[in-house]
Amino acid sequence: MIKLPPQLIEPLPAAFYPATAPLPFSRADFGAGFHWGAAAAAYQTEGAWQHQGKGPSIWDDFTRRKGTIRRGEHGRVAADFYHRHETDLDLAQGMGLTDFRFSAAWSRVLPEGLGAVNRRGLDFYDRLVDACLERDLQPWLTLYHWDLPSALQARGGWANRNIVGWFSDYAQVMARRLGDRVAHWAVLNEPMVFVGAGHLLGVHAPGRRHLGAFLAAAHHATLAQAEGGRALRAHLPDSARIGTTFSCSYLTPHRPGHARDEAATRRADAILNRFFVEPTLGLGYPLAELPALRWLLERYQKPGDDQRMQFDFDFWGVQNYTREVVKFSPWLPLQWATLVPAKQRGVPYTDMGWEVYPESIYQMLKQFSAYPNAPKLLVTESGSAFPDVAIGGVVDDPARRAYLQAAVGQVLRAQREGVDVGGYFAWSLTDNFEWAEGYGPRFGLIHVDYETQQRTLKNSGRWYQQFLGDAPLPASAGQEQATAARD
Ligand code: FCB
Repeated sequence: MIKLPPQLIEPLPAAFYPATAPLPFSRADFGAGFHWGAAAAAYQTEGAWQHQGKGPSIWDDFTRRKGTIRRGEHGRVAADFYHRHETDLDLAQGMGLTDFRFSAAWSRVLPEGLGAVNRRGLDFYDRLVDACLERDLQPWLTLYHWDLPSALQARGGWANRNIVGWFSDYAQVMARRLGDRVAHWAVLNEPMVFVGAGHLLGVHAPGRRHLGAFLAAAHHATLAQAEGGRALRAHLPDSARIGTTFSCSYLTPHRPGHARDEAATRRADAILNRFFVEPTLGLGYPLAELPALRWLLERYQKPGDDQRMQFDFDFWGVQNYTREVVKFSPWLPLQWATLVPAKQRGVPYTDMGWEVYPESIYQMLKQFSAYPNAPKLLVTESGSAFPDVAIGGVVDDPARRAYLQAAVGQVLRAQREGVDVGGYFAWSLTDNFEWAEGYGPRFGLIHVDYETQQRTLKNSGRWYQQFLGDAPLPASAGQEQATAARD
């Protein structure tokens, strides 16, 4: 007997349903050029960790360390996307997607991180791009989704300022080889996550817990973000679109109106949502909210860096999964703020412990679009993890389906209010290796049986397919889903 977590048995809260985007809505409401995709990342899906000349990455190393990953899991095989990408892309095409976002493993292309190119590694991405195009899927390539070559970590990794040059050399290699076919490029995936979780909290590779390493890595990632953009622009055709992606969560104070919680929320916003965004616009880091960081960061800054951090991106990828509730904390002197876990707040949450709060995506699209000179926005990741079981070739996942529908509705709500948002990429195409959480949380629209590598399109994927086929959804869709999720 499968024990369901409480959030699947209890009625789903109103937050599942877009308050102001009336159902039914259809694909046509988003406009003809809207990009409809799903996303994936190299380490989480490819496997083939030592195949055809690939060098080791910090995730290969980190997952070998005891106690870092749940159940001691790792991405050595993962969803075996390296060998099964044609099957997965067939399913993506079958779902009616127009776009597919993936990342390249730097150490597959440059096993030492710099210097000699591994031809077979680069050939893989070449084949992957062609396989997308053959299926009318526009490839969106992310250069860095957290798997730094181990050889570069041995030289200090993100804490070494030389990484800015190493990264732009890698960007050049990729642009030269794939620039004739890949029209959309993203420089970094969620710098605050790999910098913070990897260098301050120690829960992601390279597993450091060091304030100096965190600050250095943060500044070098900001420089690499812009420098990577410049390297791409110099080597790609004018028609290429260059962006980067940011993690973000809508933040609300634990006690609204409580002065110290409100101020803590502004500080958390500066760190979690604004830190890597504002330097690209020439606004520098949001230090007015974070005075303690000013002199700490100065150690790593050189004259001229304010200009070097700027880059005129064609798009920002907005990546959102939840909201966070923020409370003043006397214990954390960098930000004097802490996040109150959903579990403590008595609200429904996903398998990641993240509150189910699809409206967060609307709030973040509004927040980012409010910057003067903000580029076009795309939702490059959005999704939810719930437990799934494949029974007789069917994976019924009403909670994920409801989340997907609600999130898409929230994007439409933002668009109707004038936000220039050009696409939605569900995280993720298939189930995959969820970093420190291992294979437990499942985010895919396609279920993966890791024993057999069998794929099963989940009902959430079928919902997406139906939506993309522009079949109008029944007016009662929201209600049906609430009932389905309750049963
Ligand atoms: C994002 C990551 C992605 C995935 C989702 C759940 O922060 O970019 O790789 O793990 O979270």
